[in-house]
Amino acid sequence: MANIFPRGSNFLPLKIAFCLLVLGGATSTGLWYYFTNKYTNVGYQPTQPVPFSHEIHVKQVGMDCRYCHSFVEVAAHSNIPTTQVCMNCHQQIQKDNPKLQAVRDSWTTGQPIQWVQIHKTPDYVYFNHSAHVNRGVSCVSCHGKVNEMAEVYHAKPLSMSWCLDCHRNPEEALRPLNQITNLDWEPKTKEGQSVADAQRELGSKLKADWAINPPDKNCFGCHR
Ligand code: HEC
Ligand code: HEC
Ligand code: HEC
Ligand code: HEC
Ligand code: HEC
Repeated sequence: MANIFPRGSNFLPLKIAFCLLVLGGATSTGLWYYFTNKYTNVGYQPTQPVPFSHEIHVKQVGMDCRYCHSFVEVAAHSNIPTTQVCMNCHQQIQKDNPKLQAVRDSWTTGQPIQWVQIHKTPDYVYFNHSAHVNRGVSCVSCHGKVNEMAEVYHAKPLSMSWCLDCHRNPEEALRPLNQITNLDWEPKTKEGQSVADAQRELGSKLKADWAINPPDKNCFGCHR
């Protein structure tokens, strides 16, 4: 498609608008596919090389997400921990458990564990973790209750309309920064107030105090 636009200048918005027109024709057939779970990956739960349970490590052992996903506050991508992080504990704890054999093998050979990536936006989408978790959006809004998952699955669609739903109503999600990794957190309710109303009240206050303004009409915000 590139050659119908002048070379050397950035016509991305035009191209996107043009693509939308073309796509329009295919929409009726496309929509059905678009809104099925297969397309959005909801429920996707690949088998991992080690049966690692967030439920055990977060809920029972009480670990914070950032012990393992240490880049989430400072970088676009969150990271999967190295074998070293697991061995901080598993050199002593459960050192004969066969479920940890692949971790021990990785430790002796130096070959990283081949975890299967679950969440992925297309390459033409710009996403940044730190821009969200430092602005009051919790992991639970986008990944569901990982702390109760024996194996991680894809809980939310990560589609464009899903991103925009929150960008237009961020007060439904905003919370104090010290509760970002506490997936069971709920706002305090006044007498007779529902949790949803309490969230909206607190969220609106945080939105104003922090001048929260996520991109929604500006396509460049997410397509850079
Ligand atoms: C002990 C280390 C550890 C802790 C603590 C931990 N995780 Fe993980 N996390 C992992 C490992 C290892 C994987 C890769 C295997 C898997 O998907 O289960 C992972 C995978 C994930 C994924 C899926 C990544 C993908 O491929 O898309 C998400 C989302 C996630 N963790 C969120 C969280 C959240 C939220 C918390 C805190 C409530 C948390 N994790 C705490 C080790 C940890
Ligand atoms: C802070 C310490 C700590 C770290 C770090 C840690 N674990 Fe664990 N892990 C535990 C404890 C404690 C248990 C045992 C829980 C129990 O007794 O049921 C456990 C249990 C396990 C089990 C056995 C679960 C079962 O059902 O028998 C596996 C597998 C496991 N961990 C994998 C990992 C992997 C992979 C990593 C690195 C990504 C990791 N752990 C990092 C503390 C840790
Ligand atoms: C606003 C939504 C949102 C929030 C909040 C969020 N994530 Fe994610 N997460 C995503 C998206 C989207 C991806 C896929 C990223 C991509 O395509 O590069 C992802 C991917 C991941 C991955 C896989 C590695 C990667 O970056 O691709 C891990 C691990 C993860 N998230 C952990 C966390 C943890 C831990 C938190 C909370 C501290 C968190 N996420 C908060 C949306 C979110
Ligand atoms: C639950 C709410 C929520 C969801 C879901 C969400 N966002 Fe955001 N997003 C925010 C908030 C809040 C901000 C911060 C706005 C600010 O700092 O003023 C933000 C900011 C951004 C920014 C601007 C960051 C910067 O560095 O300028 C981008 C880009 C973005 N989001 C992309 C996405 C994409 C792509 C998705 C879907 C995959 C998504 N977001 C899903 C709430 C959300
Ligand atoms: C908040 C972030 C965000 C904003 C703002 C945004 N998009 Fe998107 N867009 C996405 C995400 C995420 C996807 C990938 C959807 C998926 O994988 O299902 C996407 C996909 C697309 C696609 C491909 C559709 C498809 O079905 O493959 C087009 C075209 C598009 N966007 C155009 C636009 C235009 C035009 C605008 C401005 C009016 C815009 N986007 C604004 C996040 C955004």
